[in-house]
Amino acid sequence: MQGGQTKKPTSDAKPTIASTERRAITLLITSIIIIKDAHLTMAKKILILNGPNLNLLGTREPEIYGSETLQDVETLCKEKAQDLDLKVDFRQSNHEGILVDWIQEARVSFDAILINPAAYTHTSVAILDALSATGKPIVEVHLSNIHKREEFRHTSYVSKIATGVICGLGIHGYALGMEALSRLLSSHK
Ligand code: DQA
Repeated sequence: MQGGQTKKPTSDAKPTIASTERRAITLLITSIIIIKDAHLTMAKKILILNGPNLNLLGTREPEIYGSETLQDVETLCKEKAQDLDLKVDFRQSNHEGILVDWIQEARVSFDAILINPAAYTHTSVAILDALSATGKPIVEVHLSNIHKREEFRHTSYVSKIATGVICGLGIHGYALGMEALSRLLSSHK
């Protein structure tokens, strides 16, 4: 370059509109791929709900419900969640309205529900309606075989909306329910 002459910009120095657009499109596509991959690899979240009197497990009619406590059930579910690469939130309430609130929360915050509605199984239209409104896969679980027991336990409102029902297998039923939900969720990616 000779005295005082300024260098002319080359075509590389200033991007043309076309190349700017191309870069923007590439960036957009890359971001979409990253977001999609992150979504596919993100652990699915399961809400595990337990209804009234299940806080007494271990001491409540152990000949029917077994000697394991609710804490044992929670530990089992958390171990199973690790095996299946799921996230779980394990809760229990003796109150119908609280269970309804939690089920409503699942509409936005969870991918599926595993529920032992306990006595509300046989009485609660409110829980049935809340579950229906989630549009999520639902597994109903019972420790005892409700069909072998009193007549009033043979009717389940929750079964009218549940994707599947497991009963009579004790706390192992929770682990089976989680496996079923994991399969359902991976086939609905
Ligand atoms: C139960 C069966 C219900 O009939 C009963 O009211 C329960 C527990 C079970 O896990 O076997 O509380 O859901």
